[in-house]
This record gives sequence, C-alpha cells and structure tokens, in this order.
Amino acid sequence: MAKTIIVSNRLPVKISQENGKYNYMPSEGGLATGLGSIYKDGDNIWIGWPGLAVSKADHQKEITKKLKTESMKPVFLTNTEIEEFYEGFSNETLWPNFHYFNQYIVFDDDMWRAYQKVNRKFARAIAEVLEPEDTIWVHDYQLLLLPEMLREFAPKASIGFFLHIPFPSYESFRLLPWRRELLEGMLGADFLGFHTYDDMRHFLSSVNRLAGLGNSNGMINVDNRKVMVDALPMGIDYDKYAESAAAKETLEREARYRESIGAQKLILSIDRLDYSKGIPQRLKAFELFLEQNPDYREKVSLLMVVVPSRDQVGKYKELKEEIDLLVGRINGNYSRLNWTPIHYFYRSFPLNALSAFYRMAEVAMVTPMRDGMNLVCKEFIASKLDKKGVLILSEMAGASKELSDAILINPNDMGELVNAIKTALTMPVKKQMANMISMQRSLQRYNIHHWVNLFMERLHHIKHEQKALETQ
Ligand code: G6P
Repeated sequence: MAKTIIVSNRLPVKISQENGKYNYMPSEGGLATGLGSIYKDGDNIWIGWPGLAVSKADHQKEITKKLKTESMKPVFLTNTEIEEFYEGFSNETLWPNFHYFNQYIVFDDDMWRAYQKVNRKFARAIAEVLEPEDTIWVHDYQLLLLPEMLREFAPKASIGFFLHIPFPSYESFRLLPWRRELLEGMLGADFLGFHTYDDMRHFLSSVNRLAGLGNSNGMINVDNRKVMVDALPMGIDYDKYAESAAAKETLEREARYRESIGAQKLILSIDRLDYSKGIPQRLKAFELFLEQNPDYREKVSLLMVVVPSRDQVGKYKELKEEIDLLVGRINGNYSRLNWTPIHYFYRSFPLNALSAFYRMAEVAMVTPMRDGMNLVCKEFIASKLDKKGVLILSEMAGASKELSDAILINPNDMGELVNAIKTALTMPVKKQMANMISMQRSLQRYNIHHWVNLFMERLHHIKHEQKALETQ
C-alpha cells in the first residue's frame, strides 16, 4: 500500500547525550503535533536530521534503531555538512535572502556544493524506503532541491512542498547566483504551498522571470507536467493550547510566578534568537515608552523569552550580544529595588510555563521585521481563556494577514510601536474581548489539522488531474 513520507531538515525529536547515553524528547513544535497523526500511522515515516553530530557507526545504528520504533528515519550529517549546509547555505545564504536581510548573505560556492550534496543525501535516504506510488511531503528552505531530485527517480510519486518562511520578491531572490537551480528544484513538486498570497505571488513572478514559465490561476506547466501553487496559512493545534492554559500545572505555575514578580502589568515577548524577529527594536521601543511615560514605571514589565538558536552562526552571536547589552542598559537605567523593567530569559521553557506566561500577559508584542507566519501570536490568542489581552503584531508577519483585529504596526516605525504599547495598555476591556473573540474564532477553525488536510487534499487533487490528463 502507498505510504506517506514526511521530510524536513529536523526530525520532530530532540536528542541529547548525557554520560554516553542518548535521551529522546519528542519536540513540541507545531509541525510535529500537526503531522503526528500522519507519520505515526501504518508504514508512514518522517525522515530528517536528528539535530546533532553522530560520527560513530555503532551510535548511528543505535539511534536509527530507536527512531524506527517512533516511525522516524535519521539522515546523519557530518560536522562539515552541519557547518556548510545547515549553518552555512541554509542559514547564512537562504535565510537572510528570504527575510530581506541581504546585507547578511554569505555567497560561497563550497556552501552551495554542500547544500546540493546534503539534498542528495536526503534523496538517497528517501529512495531506500520509497515505493513508486508513495506521497512525499517536503518541508522548508533547507530542502529546496529535493523535489526535483525525487522526481528523477520516482516520476509517479506525489510530491508536495511547503515553504515555512517568506518567499522573497524577485528583486531579492535574483541576487542569489544559484536562483535558477533553486527554482528548478522546487518545481519538481506537484504542489507547492506558501503561507501567504504574497509569498506565492513572489514565487510565481520569479518562476516567470527566471524560468520563463507563466501560470494560469496558480497552475504552471513544467515539461508537460502540471504544478500547482497555492497559499495555505499554517494554523496551530488550538485545543492543545487552550487545554494547556486551563491545566492544573499551568495555574500553579502562574500563581508561583505572580508571587515572585508582583502585581504589575506584563508585556510578553517570545522568540527564537533571530535577527528577523526584531528583538532589539522591541527593546528600544519599550525603553522609549518608559522614557516618555514615567507614570508607567514600576507598573509594567517586559517578560522577554529568547530561545537559543543557531548560536554558532556569526550574526546570531552578534545579535545575542546586542540583546544582552540593551537589556543591561535598560534595566541599569530604570530598575528599582521593587521593580525590574525587563525579565529576560535566554532559554527554552516547557509548554506549561509558556501557557502561564500567555495567561499572565496583558499584552503580547510580536513585532518581527519579517516572518513567514509566526505561531507565537496564535498561541497567545488560544491561551486567553478569559478573552482579555491585546496583541501587537507586525505587518511583516504572515499571521497579520489573518489577525486583522490585532494592533498592526510597522516594526521600523519606532513612534508607532511606542504608541501601540500605550494603546494596548489602555484598551477598554470590552474592545479587548471583542477583538480576542473574533481572532479566536478564526484560529479555532483554521487550525493545524485543517491546514494538514487542506495540503493533502490539494496534493491529491493535482495528482488526480495529472493522471486524468495522461490517460486522455
Ligand atoms: C524556522 C524554520 C524551520 C526551523 C526552525 C528552527 O521555523 O522555518 O525550518 O526548523 O526555524 O530552526 P533550526 O535552525 O533550529 O532548525
């Protein structure tokens, strides 16, 4: 029977090593929960990198055996591949280019070769388990070449691809010397999904200008094969967040945290360490807010969680230092013995702790410079069981297209950010609740399960149409 193969750079598991023993923790990520019901079913499987360098053959065997019991198959990367493919081409070339940080791009032929090599490595790992009629769903920018590689040896397979980050405008994308190969790689898929209509439009424009291929309503004709493109904004596991917000452990944590920090209002900020998230800009806006509104000092604090990420990459190291300096400066200037302006954590937290933070915060500031979607703002909304609270959201996040009842801001406009903080903190409860209810309704409906079903439906639909054409 045909099966489904999920492929992403990272497997949905966190493996760590302690005293020579490996520990396995299922990942809490949105994708992992959303696809859980698929990859654990029957012969289905998730293929990806286990997230750490494992050089010894017997260790690789041990990990492979353990993951097999969880319907996963690892692709091991060498230290050089981690450096050149993961930290390098994926996160120093594609990531900055796709997020419009073009001054950060590293152009390096060795990294490009490593990217090709690792995409081929993934293709080989898939080939080991692939049957001709299987469905393969490839995820994200680390694997842009994979659809075409798979198409070569499995022409009949259904190949889907979803990009979790923005697709840049042609003017940004054209800067990459390997733009043509990257596009051709993606066009190996039968169906390509993007978070927003704009991402899809940018992709179609690059396909047109670089590959000379037009489209009709998102349908592209590639060598007599139909490729469909569509915008499918990813949702969250709404019930999981709503349930966690009501859980006993969350409530206990909330009471404990409240006792430690006192009664002041809280503005929440949660991100992975990344320059695309606008963390320094947010800190500066909070600083300016305190400067301009002395009556709010001692009455409001920023609770800032920065989750460590890609910390071997130069720009991420620099960003960490910048954040540390800014937090130190602001706390140094404004702290009182009974009040800390910024509670700053550089670490990750378990779900119950995050839920407690979501419950406690009057305001969430989700103000990226650029973000494919952003799920934190959706999690905040799902956790607001009493319907009170205000979301300040960047226009540059994919989520802003759905959450028009948030306070939408341009993260480059410092004045607008400062005003938004004031507006949020003084918003009448009635208005807070009306906005929250409308956003909750939409997120409840367009949840992660809806997204997965829609993607699969579209992929099967286009495959069905292709088959019908072939038999005509
Ligand atoms: C973004 C990307 C994902 C990536 C995640 C964490 O959400 O779209 O593909 O897995 O960041 O980044 P990391 O480099 O730690 O995998």
